[in-house]
Amino acid sequence: MDEVILKLLDLSKSFEGKKVLDAISLEVKEGEAVAILGKSGVGKTVLLKSMVGLLKADSGHIFFKGVDITRLKRKDLFAIRKHFGFVFQGSALFDSMTVYENIALPLEQRGLGRDEIDIRVKTVLELVGLPGIENLLPHELSGGMKKRVGIARAFVTQPQIILYDEPTAGLDPVTGIRINHLIGELNRKRNVTAIVVTHDIRSATSICDRIVLLSQGKLVVDVHVKNIEKVEHPEFVEFLKSAKIQGVRNDKN
Ligand SMILES: Nc1ncnc2c1ncn2[C@@H]1O[C@H](COP(=O)(O)OP(=O)(O)OP(=O)(O)O)[C@@H](O)[C@H]1O
Ligand SMILES: [Mg+2]
Repeated sequence: MDEVILKLLDLSKSFEGKKVLDAISLEVKEGEAVAILGKSGVGKTVLLKSMVGLLKADSGHIFFKGVDITRLKRKDLFAIRKHFGFVFQGSALFDSMTVYENIALPLEQRGLGRDEIDIRVKTVLELVGLPGIENLLPHELSGGMKKRVGIARAFVTQPQIILYDEPTAGLDPVTGIRINHLIGELNRKRNVTAIVVTHDIRSATSICDRIVLLSQGKLVVDVHVKNIEKVEHPEFVEFLKSAKIQGVRNDKN
């Protein structure tokens, strides 16, 4: 648990002269679950995509188990990426492919045999609570089902770390709780390190060990969930307050 699996060092990224990430440093230990909190447009998706090299950072370093992936050739980067799972904000399923084909794709790319692929696809669909939907197309799925298929696809390759981009945004609370539970199970029972981007502090506290807050290009808070009430940063306090207001409303309903 104490080994650092992912380390960011002074990671920066600008778009058209606008600095989105400004010298971000972060360490994530094996088996940990870390939430990245931040307002819309602050750069959470850019940060997540940069971590796995889907976006190229302008400067800084990303170490996966001590290997600097910003220095790797394409082929070596692809080899390292196999240890990552990525759950995209918009689920990013291929519309013309069935659920089976979507989930099987990364396994085919790895050259697994048909029988092994069949077993793995069936197993992950059961794991996310959607057995038997192999032949459906993405447009036949609800938003929550798409998110769960996205998680199944990220998990099917048995990655060491999964990056989740807003896995519960836009879902009803019951489905959201179910997805949080699933992320927590993969993390705790299967020891898959989790980095979860969210703007929902409730999800963050229910799944994660640590919460970091991204604001104006910087990580301004890095706190264990046990200590969130002690944080004084005004933006973090706002997030906490909004969760509490939501709680009062829920109690009255
Ligand atoms: N490929 C790109 N080209 C130019 N600008 C980009 C690109 N990707 C992101 N940006 C800009 O970077 C900033 C951060 O975007 P990002 O998608 O990371 O926000 P976010 O925190 O994930 O927001 P949300 O909570 O709404 O998903 C935005 O100003 C966005 O316009
Ligand atoms: Mg985003």
